[in-house]
Amino acid sequence: MKEQLEQILATAVATLQQQGTLPADVQPRLQLDRPRDKSHGDFATNLALMLAKPAGMNPRALAEALIAALPENDLIAEASIAGPGFINFKVSQQQLLQQLEYAYQHPHAGIEPVAQPKTVVIDYSSPNLAKEMHVGHLRSAIIGDAVVRVLGVLGHKVVRQNHVGDWGTQFGMLLAHMEELDADDIAMELSNLETFYKASKNRFDESPEFANRARELVVALQSGDERCLKLWKLFIDVSLSHCQEVYDRLGVLLRRADVMAESSYNDDLPQVVAELREQGLLVEDQGAQCVFLDEFRNKEGEALPVIVQKSGGGYLYATTDLAAVRYRQNVLKGDHLIYFVDQRQGLHFQQIFTLARKAGFARPDLEMDHYGFGTVMGKDGRPYKSREGGVTKLADLLDEAERRALELLQAKGSQLTGKEQEHIAKVVGISSVKYADLSKNRMSDYIFDWDSMLSFEGNTAPYLLYAYTRVTSVFAKAGIEPHAIVGDFVLRDEKELALANILVRFNEVVHAVADKALPHYLCGYLFDVAGAFSSFYEACPILQEPDEAVRTSRLKLAALTAKTLQQGLDLLGIETLEKM
Ligand code: ARG
Repeated sequence: MKEQLEQILATAVATLQQQGTLPADVQPRLQLDRPRDKSHGDFATNLALMLAKPAGMNPRALAEALIAALPENDLIAEASIAGPGFINFKVSQQQLLQQLEYAYQHPHAGIEPVAQPKTVVIDYSSPNLAKEMHVGHLRSAIIGDAVVRVLGVLGHKVVRQNHVGDWGTQFGMLLAHMEELDADDIAMELSNLETFYKASKNRFDESPEFANRARELVVALQSGDERCLKLWKLFIDVSLSHCQEVYDRLGVLLRRADVMAESSYNDDLPQVVAELREQGLLVEDQGAQCVFLDEFRNKEGEALPVIVQKSGGGYLYATTDLAAVRYRQNVLKGDHLIYFVDQRQGLHFQQIFTLARKAGFARPDLEMDHYGFGTVMGKDGRPYKSREGGVTKLADLLDEAERRALELLQAKGSQLTGKEQEHIAKVVGISSVKYADLSKNRMSDYIFDWDSMLSFEGNTAPYLLYAYTRVTSVFAKAGIEPHAIVGDFVLRDEKELALANILVRFNEVVHAVADKALPHYLCGYLFDVAGAFSSFYEACPILQEPDEAVRTSRLKLAALTAKTLQQGLDLLGIETLEKM
């Protein structure tokens, strides 16, 4: 609907250009908003305000001319001027009915693929393998996965990349510790990576010999020593299985095949540096190879370096990321590279993108975006910690979520069997954690609070999951198959209209999520859908309605509500329940 209206407006602009009212060279950026206040219509645009200056006209007069130039169409029921020159549009009832019917029949509740699909490479999760995943790894995995799903349903080819850190200096320490243990102990100790890491770190701090050995082992590992590589592989393998367990529990799509570890770029790193040198971009600074980019300066106004090779010859995080850009463009054939990484790495990515273009590693038209996110905070306003004060392992956090959800269900005095309750608790627990993250603007920090995320009130997973079961229970009760209801939509009641108007916006919202990589738009929308359904359900009987045409239409509204909620939650990586 939005696209159609955009086209109609573009035609009106073109007509005014032909008539000479508007200069031929203006190319307006059409902006259509959904006004909050329904009395302002279904869409509003500031087009006349933006074009008033180039047209040399007063905005209200231009708005009038634009309205007069609207081509004939069956979309707009009414166009009116508001305030200094906004144009408000009311969509015709007939259009609304058509769109509803379309969404009802549509396998994805009306989500339309993009006109020009791209290959989008998405770097997400990407933990360092030296430690076990902790709460800080939650956001990248959850938000990244939602965007993967959204871009997929819009028809893009999505390539997932898990750029795990498997090559840092910490591995020397870990190898030195492995060396000191016999095979059985290694297996045992590796079952808790966190403890293993701490034990190694203690040894490193307490014993200078151990520390020296650790440094030797890094060098040995990096120069391809067979024995070191074997131990290292053993460690990496255990660590990756831990990650996979977490992904599976979280319902994150990442698989082993998506892992493209830092170490896989090793062979390409000398080449990256050589090419930078050939292009005259390298400067030696205290023995290190650096590129100074004028675009990035410190407070004193000096250009900041990107270090690509240390004085000892070792390569860095940035070098690997440059190699990864090339790989993603040339081998994976990406048109758009996306990175879901903590916003504190913002400067790093801006430098990588700028340098990759400068060095010709990235085509001028390659799109690259770092989508950052804020920190998960505790209620005390500091980064979230476990009760013992350490970092919270993700696996423990998910256990706690499931446990708390189960307690909650039991306290509600549910009629379900133990097995059913356990399954429901798993879904509710995990989805509460995910939804709490997804429903906040990713740019802000958010407070991790069990009580609010598990609440059945407000914009939460339990509320939405419950709302979904309420809708589907209508069908279960009547033994009706929701996808095969014969009859038309008829909208008379104000609550029916309100629900219908929200339901037809689904496609628009999903596109907006994709454009900005902001899943919280979808959460807010689903919350509105559930709220509108609730008001409708209170005001309008469904199965009890005596008029058959009205009853059929209401059933269809309920069916489309269920489908929209289910699809929407699925795009967020959240499984729905049939009862709870
Ligand atoms: N492993 C890094 C970290 O934990 C994140 C990697 C993000 N991806 C990338 N291509 N740099 O900080």
